[in-house]
Amino acid sequence: MAQVRLSGIGKTYPDGTSAVKGLDLDIADGEFLVLVGPSGCGKTTALRMVAGLEEISSGTLTIGDRVVNRTPARDRDVAMVFQSYALYPHLSVRDNIAFGLQLRKLPKRAIKERVEEAAETLGLTEHLDRRPRNLSGGQRQRVAMGRAIVRQPQAFLMDEPLSNLDAKLRVQMRAEISRIQRDLGVTTVYVTHDQVEAMTLGDRVAVLKKGVLQQVAPPQELYNHPANLFVAGFIGSPAMNLLQGRLDADGPGARLELGGQALAVPARLLAERPRLREYLGRDIAVGIRPEDMDDADLDGADGGAVLSSTTDLVEALGPELLVHFQVPAPPVVTEDTKELARDAGADNVDAAAPYSDVIARFSPRSQARSGRPVRVRVDTGRLYFFDPATGDGIWDEPASATQQKEGTHA
Ligand SMILES: Nc1ncnc2c1ncn2[C@@H]1O[C@H](COP(=O)(O)OP(=O)(O)O)[C@@H](O)[C@H]1O
Ligand SMILES: [Mg+2]
Repeated sequence: MAQVRLSGIGKTYPDGTSAVKGLDLDIADGEFLVLVGPSGCGKTTALRMVAGLEEISSGTLTIGDRVVNRTPARDRDVAMVFQSYALYPHLSVRDNIAFGLQLRKLPKRAIKERVEEAAETLGLTEHLDRRPRNLSGGQRQRVAMGRAIVRQPQAFLMDEPLSNLDAKLRVQMRAEISRIQRDLGVTTVYVTHDQVEAMTLGDRVAVLKKGVLQQVAPPQELYNHPANLFVAGFIGSPAMNLLQGRLDADGPGARLELGGQALAVPARLLAERPRLREYLGRDIAVGIRPEDMDDADLDGADGGAVLSSTTDLVEALGPELLVHFQVPAPPVVTEDTKELARDAGADNVDAAAPYSDVIARFSPRSQARSGRPVRVRVDTGRLYFFDPATGDGIWDEPASATQQKEGTHA
């Protein structure tokens, strides 16, 4: 096991595509780091450079205390698990798992021991003599994991290993990967475009956009203190609602104007984030998480501030209601939000639109119905604010945001 360090790693393909730019990541010994971002943002390229399957154009890659930029893949002592399991169909599970060890000419006895131990860990013991075609998708994925485990590598590298599984199996395998990684304590770099997978697996999560690192932090830190609009909109489902507003001083607090309606911003929030004072009297990008809103007509729902609208759609999900409504404030349109819209497969957001679509998560006690007037209570102590020009989050201690700031200017 070892620490993996990427310093200013870049990749330019022969056709001129700049897939990864100045990537700095320090992955601690035994850490589970998830690299997440939309399709095409450079995740696979970054992982393949660590594996030695792709030449590094710039920067320094260190595994343990060795610089390995020029070290061939087979000598880097890392094991990669791919999305396609890449199993040999004519070999048994046992031989598939043992394959790499046989190539390395390990003694037969040692191979047998390691294979059986891995099979035990993965619940494959009864299947060792079967062929891959007789296994379920989840079992095949486990065989692919087994092949990585028996090599006892310095690091695991996994590229969307669960994306070929159905939703239920994915959740199950996710828990299993987490358990195995913890048991073995092997440094792991895991690539996914699924933010839920990223949040549940990672000790830390690195968010990549167009080859540039946006933020790297523990999951909850990313969620609570996104460095910019891109991270804010990418992490969380339903996504954070982003609207253009205006902030004005109002006693010790502030007044947030959102499409003709005013919300009182508590003095406490301004005290915690003094930089917000620079935005008084100016336009500002406002973020509201769906769960920071609820039905204002419910008993005991006081405090906060209220937005009035009419519901477009109410989706009853059991534990919550997803309430869709419009607020007459324009949506936030920046490079970040355009990239998010592209990733979501949505049409480009129209900056000139006078209305924003908003989604709130209401308590199941709410009587909200589609097409009816609704009063939405907003927990204004939990609002997110971003600079409307740069898209940067307005926080006072940039905490995890500092580490990658150079990258955003690349
Ligand atoms: N061999 C290649 N030659 C040129 N461009 C490539 C090659 N492989 C990937 N790319 C481009 O590099 C970018 C990053 O790709 P990739 O690393 O596969 O992203 P991800 O894994 O995040 O989906 C994309 O724009 C992709 O089209
Ligand atoms: Mg990929």
